[in-house]
Amino acid sequence: AKLPKKFEKNRFNENICERNAPLQHHNQVLVEPLLFLNEYWTVMGDERRALAYSKAAATIKCLPFTVTTLTELDDLKGLGSGHCLKVIQETLERGHCQEVIVKRDSMKFQSLKILSSVYGIGPSLALKLHSNHGVSSVQDILKLWNQLALADERIKVGVTYYADLSTPVSCTLAKKIKGIVEYELSIIKDDFRIEIAGGFRRGKKNGHDVDILITYTTDGEEKGILSSLMKHLNHKGYILHWRLEKSSFDEEAVFTRSPDQISVMDHFEKSFCVFKCPLQGNEIPETERTIRIDVNEPFPSQEQRNWRAIRVDLIMVPKSQWAYALLGWTGSKLFMRMLRHYSNAHLQKTLNSHGLWDKRENKLIPAESEEDVFKNLGLSYKDPSHRNF
Ligand code: CTP
Ligand code: MN
Ligand code: MN
Ligand code: MN
Repeated sequence: AKLPKKFEKNRFNENICERNAPLQHHNQVLVEPLLFLNEYWTVMGDERRALAYSKAAATIKCLPFTVTTLTELDDLKGLGSGHCLKVIQETLERGHCQEVIVKRDSMKFQSLKILSSVYGIGPSLALKLHSNHGVSSVQDILKLWNQLALADERIKVGVTYYADLSTPVSCTLAKKIKGIVEYELSIIKDDFRIEIAGGFRRGKKNGHDVDILITYTTDGEEKGILSSLMKHLNHKGYILHWRLEKSSFDEEAVFTRSPDQISVMDHFEKSFCVFKCPLQGNEIPETERTIRIDVNEPFPSQEQRNWRAIRVDLIMVPKSQWAYALLGWTGSKLFMRMLRHYSNAHLQKTLNSHGLWDKRENKLIPAESEEDVFKNLGLSYKDPSHRNF
C-alpha cells in the first residue's frame, strides 16, 4: 500500500490519546456512515455497539490523508471488529453503505430518534413510549399527554419548546447567553472567571446547548453564588425552566471508594436551564416561524415572539478543580473516555472532572491549567480544536 511518507502507522497506534481529531478532516464520506451507525445504536439503546462505531469514526477522522483502499487501514488500532471495516470497504467501493440506507428508513429508528431528542426523554423512556403506547412523534405525546402521565417536569418543557430546542444554537447566541450570565454575575460578586466549554470551545459553529463553566479566585468563594445567580436570572425573565443540582463533591466518594470504576458523572453544583434568550429580528430563523408546538399554555404569536428557548448548562467549579473541569466539559465525550481509560489502565491514576488521583500514592495531583493536566498525564498538549473525537 502506498501511504504518504509523513504518516507513521506505529506512532498513530502507539497511544490513541495522542491523535488529533480536527473538525475538518480528509474522510467525510467514510466517517458519515460510521457516525450514522453510532447514532442508530445510541437511539436503539445499544451503547456498546454505538461506541464501536464512534471509535472507528474517530480513528478515520484522525488520519492525515484521504483513504482510497482498504489496505491503507491495515493494522490501524481503533477500527474495531470486522463489521466496521465492512462498512468502510463497501463505502469505498460503492460510495455508500446499503445497511445505512435500510436502517435510516426504519420506522422504529425514526420514531425513537425523535422521541429521544425531546429534552427529558432518554433512549429507554423513548423505547417504552414507543413499544407500550405506540408513540412515534411529539404530536403523539401531546395527544396522549394525560394518559402518559409523564412525571418529569423537563419533558413538558422539552415538548413545549420542541421546535426551539431542536434548532441548532449558533456561536453568536452562545456568546449572547454568556454575556447575560457574565453581567448578572458581575452584579453579585466580582473576580470570577467564565468560559464556554463543550462543542463551541472545540470550534464547532453550532451546538445543541451552551455549556458554561464559572469559578472564583479561591476555593469556597463560589459557595452560594449559583442560587443567587438563578434568582437574578429568573427575576430578569431569562429563565423558562431550571433544575439545580447541589454539589456532592467529596474526595473520598469521588476518588477512593471505587478507584477502578471510571466515574463519568461529576459532582459539581450545576443548573440545567432552558433560557428565554432575547433575539434581534434577523436572529429568528425562517423555520421557527412555521414549526411550533403549543401545549397547555399557548405561545405568544410569532409576531410578538422576540426570543427563543435555549438549553444552557451552568457549572460552578471550585478554583482548584478548574483545569480538570474545563478539560472534562470541553470533551468530546469520546476523547474524555479515551483519556480516562488511558489514565486508569496505563498510569494507575483516576481522571475525572474534579482531578487526577494517583492510586498508588493515594493523593490528588494538582493542576493550574489544561496544559498542566496534559503534563500530569504524560501527554503533549492538545488544542481544543483537535479534541473532536
Ligand atoms: N459532560 C459532563 N457531564 C455531564 C454532561 C456533559 O462531563 N453531565 C461533558 C461531556 O464529556 C461533554 C461536554 O461535557 O464532552 C459537553 O457535553 P454536551 O453538551 O453533551 O456535548 P457537546 O460536545 O457540547 O456537544 P453539543 O454541541 O451537541 O452540545
Ligand atoms: Mn454542549
Ligand atoms: Mn451540555
Ligand atoms: Mn489500553
